[in-house]
Amino acid sequence: MILDDTHAAVPQPPSAPHSALAAAPDSLIQALRPDASYAQLALAADELLALTRRGLAGDSEAYAQYQSILLDLHLPADPASEPTRRWLASQVYRVEDEFAPALPDFQPVPVEQFRAAIDAEIESRTRVRHPMSQYLFQGQPSERDVRFFLEHHWIRSYNFYSLLAELAFRFEDIRDASVFYRNLYGEAGAETPDRSHPALLSHLMTHFEIPLRIDFAALHPLEKAYLNNRIRCVRHTDVAWGLSLLYAVESVSCVNHLRIYELLQRMGVPEGPSEFHRLHGTQDEIDTEEMWELIAKYAQSETFQRTFMQSLARHFDINRAYFDLLWRQMQGPSFH
Ligand SMILES: [Fe+2]
Repeated sequence: MILDDTHAAVPQPPSAPHSALAAAPDSLIQALRPDASYAQLALAADELLALTRRGLAGDSEAYAQYQSILLDLHLPADPASEPTRRWLASQVYRVEDEFAPALPDFQPVPVEQFRAAIDAEIESRTRVRHPMSQYLFQGQPSERDVRFFLEHHWIRSYNFYSLLAELAFRFEDIRDASVFYRNLYGEAGAETPDRSHPALLSHLMTHFEIPLRIDFAALHPLEKAYLNNRIRCVRHTDVAWGLSLLYAVESVSCVNHLRIYELLQRMGVPEGPSEFHRLHGTQDEIDTEEMWELIAKYAQSETFQRTFMQSLARHFDINRAYFDLLWRQMQGPSFH
């Protein structure tokens, strides 16, 4: 049971000014002030986009800094700066678009073959074969390692509902948007807010004594990149990015959660804290058939297909780098 402090239990991003933003270029800090001029906005955007370009071209320091800034722009903070933060982030997305995976072998296919092409790509990039997955789900992981894995599971999962909400806004036709609204209803615990999915997952964190509050600024750049890419995709004005991201996440959700649930069972974790994983391991978060029908409406377009596959490729590239990082950290003598 989650108690009256539900709201306190759900992680809140650090309040502004963020520690990472304090290290941001002065132009950005000035641009986020309520009295910022257009010239200050333009200067901040120019500097941020130049940093993003350097980062995506291979400058690892610039990459880390741009991911930090982008995460700060993404996280809820001072409402007064929200329009500016969204606009700056949208400009970063345009630069990221320029660096989208090239996909030299891409070939558009008839709509009825597109799903098979997507599913084949997702299968080829499955986390199941990642060495960290093999260790966790087929090996004898220590409680410390499971705790570490779950801590990061919380970081990437607690706000899944906000991804659905963001993408839902992109669809003018309520029949299309409802694919996500129906799911949001479940995410929010239907008629029982105490059973919202973040609340259910928080019980597992409490069981493992994992703090619910996330120190976003302290996250590794590759983890920030993973979080940023999820938010970027659902906020992108081209729905191909968000549909691809959510389809990729959703289509493997059941299998991934079931394996975690079975691991929790082997560890003797009680049913209460395990409920999030039991639920997600036995039913789809989003009805994937419904989601495919929505994707199929757009998939006549070759441009849509290409962007969809670029989104998949980027998600899996970032996902792979992120899981490799977690695996390295898990194997290290100390992860903190
Ligand atoms: Fe959920």
